[in-house]
Amino acid sequence: METLLLNDNQVDIAAQIIKDGGLAAFPTETVYGLGADALNGKAVAEIFKAKGRPMDNPLIVHISDILQVYDIVRDFPEKAQALANKYWPGPLTMIMKKKDIIPDEVSAGLDTVAVRFPSHPIAQRLITLSGTPIAAPSANLSGKPSPTEFSHVVEDLSGRVGAIIDGGACNVGVESTVITLATDTPCLLRPGGITLEQLREVIGDVDVDKAVFAKPGDGTPVASPGMKYKHYAPKAKVIIINAKSDAYIEYVNAHAADGVCALCYEEDKAKLDLPCVVYGKTGDYSEQARRLFEALRRVDELGASLAYARCPQPDGVGMAVYNRLIRAAGFEVINP
Ligand code: TXA
Ligand code: MG
Repeated sequence: METLLLNDNQVDIAAQIIKDGGLAAFPTETVYGLGADALNGKAVAEIFKAKGRPMDNPLIVHISDILQVYDIVRDFPEKAQALANKYWPGPLTMIMKKKDIIPDEVSAGLDTVAVRFPSHPIAQRLITLSGTPIAAPSANLSGKPSPTEFSHVVEDLSGRVGAIIDGGACNVGVESTVITLATDTPCLLRPGGITLEQLREVIGDVDVDKAVFAKPGDGTPVASPGMKYKHYAPKAKVIIINAKSDAYIEYVNAHAADGVCALCYEEDKAKLDLPCVVYGKTGDYSEQARRLFEALRRVDELGASLAYARCPQPDGVGMAVYNRLIRAAGFEVINP
């Protein structure tokens, strides 16, 4: 398949592809998405083929107007409305009871649907011009780090999708926060750009799903199917070193060898005796989030077989960074 590479003046071409039942990748403020008409089950099924994604992992439906939510959910709970008023458009996905109009291909047979109103102007324009809500996972091959730049999408999906729109680098850099409002107490399923603290500020009690930090046990059901897959992983093995700068540097220098690199913060770099890939500064969680996935791809470009990673602080947006990195590391953490 020939893949059209489009700029931000050609969004209408991508919209026509979506209308015709095809696939188009587009930028959002979090990561790039791979979109299809959310109401067309056959079109949505093509997303799973293009990404190599397991069919039991449901997709997020993207809207460009808050009123569109009423077309796709049976119930728009008060707490969801309060969160929407405060954080939409933005990096927040809310799970609610779905209407029958949402095909099983989107919801993976669940009776709920995940809904997000992205703030990125290209994403909004694409949804509006398509005249339909757009189902979209991250626009990477399944198992690879989510794409935060146009070049990542081209690398992963060229020849597999109808079009890719160039919107430059994504601002947030990790996927949206996912919260379910289909349970008695709302529950955070995936941390992201909207923090747990921000959610609690608006709606009070929010539980945190076990799978956010812990390795899901084999066969244990998880609330969000995506959490059970090894995710975000580069080809290289990643191991998290749970230590502050000095102890981290000492450990990594003592274990330097061919094919080993450091996935570190800016201030560590000068003191390390091996190739470094930097993913931000200590304490700047937003920068860490913005740079993490690009850094994971660079670890592979270096040809490294092992990366020792600095451990992010798991509060605020850092919770999202920690959640992604611990998956990239297959939950392997060393406490030196
Ligand atoms: O920022 C984002 O959310 C990006 C951009 C493109 O919007 N999208 C994204 O989609 O990250 P994806 O498919 O990579 O991740 C969606 C996550 C998965 O973990 C999936 O299991 C979960 O949301 N999910 C979707 N629908 C769900 C549902 N009905 N119930 C529980 N979890 C759901
Ligand atoms: Mg994904």
